Amino acid sequence: MSKLALDRILQSQGFGTRKWCQHLIADGEVDIAGETVTDSRTIFETDGFEFRVYGEPWTFREHIYIVLNKPADYECSRKPSHHPGVLSLLPEQFSLRDVQPVGRLDHDTTGLLLMSDDGAFIHAQSSPKRHVPKIYAATTHDPVTPKLIEHLLAGVKLHDEPTPLSAVVCEMLDTHTLKIVLEQGKYHQVKRMLAAAGNHCTALRRTGIGGLHLDALELKEGEWRYLDDVQLGLLAGTP
Ligand code: URA
Repeated sequence: MSKLALDRILQSQGFGTRKWCQHLIADGEVDIAGETVTDSRTIFETDGFEFRVYGEPWTFREHIYIVLNKPADYECSRKPSHHPGVLSLLPEQFSLRDVQPVGRLDHDTTGLLLMSDDGAFIHAQSSPKRHVPKIYAATTHDPVTPKLIEHLLAGVKLHDEPTPLSAVVCEMLDTHTLKIVLEQGKYHQVKRMLAAAGNHCTALRRTGIGGLHLDALELKEGEWRYLDDVQLGLLAGTP
């Protein structure tokens, strides 16, 4: 439980500098349970605190954990160069809170992208030591063959990796689609593994991380959602 002044609460939630938040409050743009509060020094209990800014409802969150169904042609980089950044799909308050992608998907990869402003969570999720399974559906240029699957399960050597990398699961979904589960997150890993195994990836979608599956979240491309504790718990689970 912690108590904070209203200006500090707004600042912590990404509404701008403390001074800017004081102006918002003084201008009557903030209300709590239908009552406009104009004194920015008013103290509130932050746990579960609900407020409106410009009439839009918000709930206080110490940290943000979200899942985005990433569309193609968005970059995960914080300074995107050729395409808009994924942050442009989220409320602008999230950028001010320093929400960032947990790991990266290529600009043309679609699907499940975790984002957070909790450094410890980002670090833990990205750590190679945790072996969090990432599940992909990869469309291939040439038909999927049993030999290709064997090859990816046995491991393929990528030129800048000291040891071969293998898929922990690799199954044919249809003639030109593979389900591939990886426990590492190397640069362009799926695409490079497919190329090293003699095929070519023409489209890539991340469908899950651990036990969290995009299908179950019912998010259209470009849509995002806060993760609840149960969903966060699924991240470490089995695919
Ligand atoms: N592997 C790739 O090749 N690209 C991604 O975006 C993710 C995994």
